[in-house]
Amino acid sequence: MKKDLLSIKDLTSGEIDSIFKLSASLKKNKKKFSKVLSGRSLALIFQKPSNRTRVSFEVGMYQLGGNSLYLSPAEINIGVRESIKDVAKTISRYVDGIVLRTFEHKNCLDMAQAADVPIINGLSDFSHPCQGLADLFTIKEKLRNLKNITLAYVGDGNNVCNSLLFAAAKTGMNITVATPKGYAPGQEVVKQAQAFAKETGSRIIITEDPFRAVKDAHVVYTDVWASMGQEEEIALRKIIFKDFQINAKLLANAAPQVLVMHCLPAHRGEEITDEVMDSGNSIVFDQAENRMHVQKAILIKLLKGV
Ligand code: CP
Ligand code: NVA
Repeated sequence: MKKDLLSIKDLTSGEIDSIFKLSASLKKNKKKFSKVLSGRSLALIFQKPSNRTRVSFEVGMYQLGGNSLYLSPAEINIGVRESIKDVAKTISRYVDGIVLRTFEHKNCLDMAQAADVPIINGLSDFSHPCQGLADLFTIKEKLRNLKNITLAYVGDGNNVCNSLLFAAAKTGMNITVATPKGYAPGQEVVKQAQAFAKETGSRIIITEDPFRAVKDAHVVYTDVWASMGQEEEIALRKIIFKDFQINAKLLANAAPQVLVMHCLPAHRGEEITDEVMDSGNSIVFDQAENRMHVQKAILIKLLKGV
């Protein structure tokens, strides 16, 4: 049976570990894997803009010997020009895998159900699994470990936050999420993450106090205050989130060697200052690079069924 990657909550801890091991080999030894997906094709169906996800999947697929096709809303206007089911069934006849970047997560589920090839969620309003996996791979690379590590996520309880919650809970990393009132991650997500955490020993804290969150953190993470699709809320969110900026004052409460992460794109001067983003603590571009290594591992596993 084909496998999809729609959310980290669907992966076992062992599968995550195996993705990380393969990612590390791919990063170390590019040449060895240069033909592993030869003759295979990947479609990228994107309903939202992208830099990292598009470029890292396209280049990653090329480096594995395969090819990719980018399909913008101008070509595949899901649900308008054609139903999602018909898109999935048709594209499955041409390619070996599909990356979908979309709004409603239900589109990922519907496409996965109708398609005959693996579907990879390249970001939905609910989750961003490739990001979460690359982030934990990066933390492991920098700190050697995930157990006994605490990540403080400060900002909006959004898709990236959900994926980090699941990733932490599945790998035994501790996570503290600090959001303004009313912007915490959904109760169902927290409940599911807590259930996974029980098995791995991960500690999950949800708070509205960013200072408390960063105090014992090894890693501080943020994302934009208004995600794609929330553009009309930008002005209001700038007011609501103003005390949740990652700046020197907040980081004065964290360990001096704390790592700073951001999935990017960053809105400098909003959720993160230039000073922090350009400091020696920031690993945001290592994180961006690792998207490609981790996604290559995901592609090999899903497209080859290994
Ligand atoms: N982090 C991330 O997914 O970036 P893009 O939106 O540029 O793909
Ligand atoms: N939360 C952001 C992440 C972008 C990579 C968004 O969905 O726009």
